[in-house]
Amino acid sequence: MKLEAFAEPGSEEAVLLESIDAGKLPRHIAVIMDGNGRWAGLRKLPRVAGHRTGIDSVRNIVESCRKLGIESLTLYAFSTENWKRPRLEVRTLMRLLKEFIRKEMRSVNENNIRFLAIGRIHELDESVREELRRFSELTARNTGMTLSVARNYSGRAEITDAVNRILSECRAGGPVIVTEDIISGSLYTAGLPDPDLLIRTSGEMRISNFLLWQIAYSEIYVTPTLWPDFRRKHLLEAIAAYQLRDRRYGGI
Ligand code: IPE
Ligand code: IPE
Ligand code: MG
Repeated sequence: MKLEAFAEPGSEEAVLLESIDAGKLPRHIAVIMDGNGRWAGLRKLPRVAGHRTGIDSVRNIVESCRKLGIESLTLYAFSTENWKRPRLEVRTLMRLLKEFIRKEMRSVNENNIRFLAIGRIHELDESVREELRRFSELTARNTGMTLSVARNYSGRAEITDAVNRILSECRAGGPVIVTEDIISGSLYTAGLPDPDLLIRTSGEMRISNFLLWQIAYSEIYVTPTLWPDFRRKHLLEAIAAYQLRDRRYGGI
């Protein structure tokens, strides 16, 4: 792995990088960014403090993936089930997303990253939709990496939306036999490779309705590290662990 501009020679990160095979990087990494509330609770802070620090982790992981040459990074930021949370927390999460976009739009674009919002985006507030639209349009032609942020996202809703889309295409005279490719191509993630590596922070051994179709053969890596503490070093650890897996896809 090329170390320049990435890690101090001799540092823990440099050692980790040495153990990573640049030819076998995951093409697509998906992350369930969990544990912000617990991180704040441990510090006797309000939950939103965890969400705020979690933004620093997002910035760090986006930058690191781009530098490593990861093709696609998908972050789970807000599920359709997260509306059950107190109004203030939901409002803060929406505000933090807008803030993130305003602050990061320029550097994301300069780094040749394409931004994609996935989920039932049409159900979000107009002000949030407007920010998401501006960000997606500005970066639409970038080719360095695709950064997808899942917002008001549910894997079951995504499949349901895909089925309805296919049905209306059939009614309009489209294909009557549905194939796996047609389903994949009707999801919000159409055109992206399926995730090779799915990371969940903060220890929970569940999927929480994330990318249900796409993770059929993803390698799952669960770490006890809470999302606001998760930085480049932890990402490299996850990639190193991924590279030790034997991906058999049902073969031998
Ligand atoms: C992840 O952290 C952020 C979102 C789900 C929006 P949580 O807020 O779920 O943190 P915990 O799981 O309660 O610690
Ligand atoms: C999953 O975390 C959703 C996001 C990270 C956005 P949750 O905290 O909502 O998941 P559960 O409730 O522990 O399953
Ligand atoms: Mg949680």
